[in-house]
Amino acid sequence: MMSLTLVCAMLCVSACVASCPLRCECSEAQRTVRCASAALLQVPDAIPSDAIILIITGNAIHRLDHGAFSGMQNVTHLNLSNNGIMEIGSHTFSSLLTLRSLILNNNPLVLIHPEAFSVPGSPLQELSLRSSLYNYTSLMDLITALRWGELTNLLRLDLSGNHLVLLPPGMFAPLPNLRHLHLRNNSLVAVYNGTFSGVGELLELDLTGNAFRTISDEGLRELERFIGVRLMLGQNPYVCTCEAKEMANWLNSSKVKVGDADRLYCKSPAALHDVSLRGLSAQVLGCYGKVHEEITDLSLQTSYVFLGLVLGFVGMVFILVVYLNRKGIKKWIAEIYEACQNVLEGYHHRLEMDSDPRLGPDSHGHQGRPRVDQRSAHISTDAQITQIPSDVTL
Ligand SMILES: *[C@@H]1O[C@H](CO)[C@@H](O)[C@H](O)[C@H]1NC(C)=O
Ligand SMILES: *[C@@H]1O[C@H](CO)[C@@H](O)[C@H](O)[C@H]1NC(C)=O
Ligand SMILES: *[C@@H]1O[C@H](CO)[C@@H](O)[C@H](O)[C@H]1NC(C)=O
Ligand SMILES: *[C@@H]1O[C@H](CO)[C@@H](O)[C@H](O)[C@H]1NC(C)=O
Ligand SMILES: *[C@@H]1O[C@H](CO)[C@@H](O)[C@H](O)[C@H]1NC(C)=O
Ligand SMILES: *[C@@H]1O[C@H](CO)[C@@H](O)[C@H](O)[C@H]1NC(C)=O
Repeated sequence: MMSLTLVCAMLCVSACVASCPLRCECSEAQRTVRCASAALLQVPDAIPSDAIILIITGNAIHRLDHGAFSGMQNVTHLNLSNNGIMEIGSHTFSSLLTLRSLILNNNPLVLIHPEAFSVPGSPLQELSLRSSLYNYTSLMDLITALRWGELTNLLRLDLSGNHLVLLPPGMFAPLPNLRHLHLRNNSLVAVYNGTFSGVGELLELDLTGNAFRTISDEGLRELERFIGVRLMLGQNPYVCTCEAKEMANWLNSSKVKVGDADRLYCKSPAALHDVSLRGLSAQVLGCYGKVHEEITDLSLQTSYVFLGLVLGFVGMVFILVVYLNRKGIKKWIAEIYEACQNVLEGYHHRLEMDSDPRLGPDSHGHQGRPRVDQRSAHISTDAQITQIPSDVTL
């Protein structure tokens, strides 16, 4: 009887030990199964069904498929870092009905099925894909999977270290409850209108260690929506030329508070290396807007002065010429005067003739008599025009 109990107990112990997969460690108290660097080629079958935390890291599991995690309905945390995973098939995690945290860091994901992250009831709250998007195709796959996965409860997304250069507009829109978005250590160069559209609940946005040389007006307007968000922008190669003026002003005046605003440093030009971007004035940034105006003003003044000098010189030369030729000019003027007098006398004479009604045509009688003398009619009109000025001049 005694020995039978013993055998039973031993059987139980051996059964319990056996239920932890080969080369893995199982902690019953914490309901944790750990298979670290165990040279596994696939997810082990014999994982205890009551496990809550499952850590399978540092193995060589290249492909995950539907069914890999069946019978583990109580797992809430799944860490699959560093397994060389290249492909995630459709509905891989769909039996993990309480899965809250999925860590897939440091895997070369080449292919992500559109329904890779679909789990009934959308329990997923954290998805970490650090250094795991192999190339741009993988990013596109991920965006599709985020949309198809209906990850409406996702609170935290980590896409750090993925060489991301561009975030397609609206890529986070299927994640309406996202609180923490980590985009550290990528190669992002710009934020555009729509980059973060649909992200309404954000608490933290980490853009540290990217390739921003500045953030354009458009980008600043896009970030304006993040009032109250912990926004990190450090370790970017900011170029402190006049183009950085808007951003420098924005850092001071926006309602959006940049968490590391005092630790944003210029990378170039060399003279401003490691100078804080926030403290820079327009002058230091090389915005010569006003000075430019002064310069054009000055050159305008100079050109007026020059013009004056030239005109003065021309005037002096003219006077000199006149002076040197004074005799000739006097003679010339006298001749002109004489000529004028002759002409005017001629006019006076003709005027007298015009005023004689017998000789001139009737200027008012248009309909009546035909003109006797074309020549005198011509002279008459001429005289009427010239009469007054010639009197005035004399
Ligand atoms: C999973 O958790 C539920 C609720 O905590 C519990 O009732 C059930 O027995 C657990 N399943 C296993 C296989 O441990
Ligand atoms: C996942 O596993 C890796 C490798 O063991 C470890 O460094 C990391 O801290 C784990 N992450 C989480 C969230 O448990
Ligand atoms: C990404 O890598 C896969 C596998 O090597 C390849 O088929 C695909 O064309 C690559 N995509 C891009 C955009 O380079
Ligand atoms: C940044 O990302 C690259 C590429 O994924 C990685 O090799 C590097 O270790 C990361 N650096 C830091 C500081 O995270
Ligand atoms: C951003 O895009 C939306 C819709 O695409 C448009 O209505 C809005 O005017 C744009 N805003 C700016 C500042 O360009
Ligand atoms: C921003 O504020 C700091 C002090 O908080 C000031 O030294 C700096 O000149 C300001 N920069 C701009 C661009 O207004």
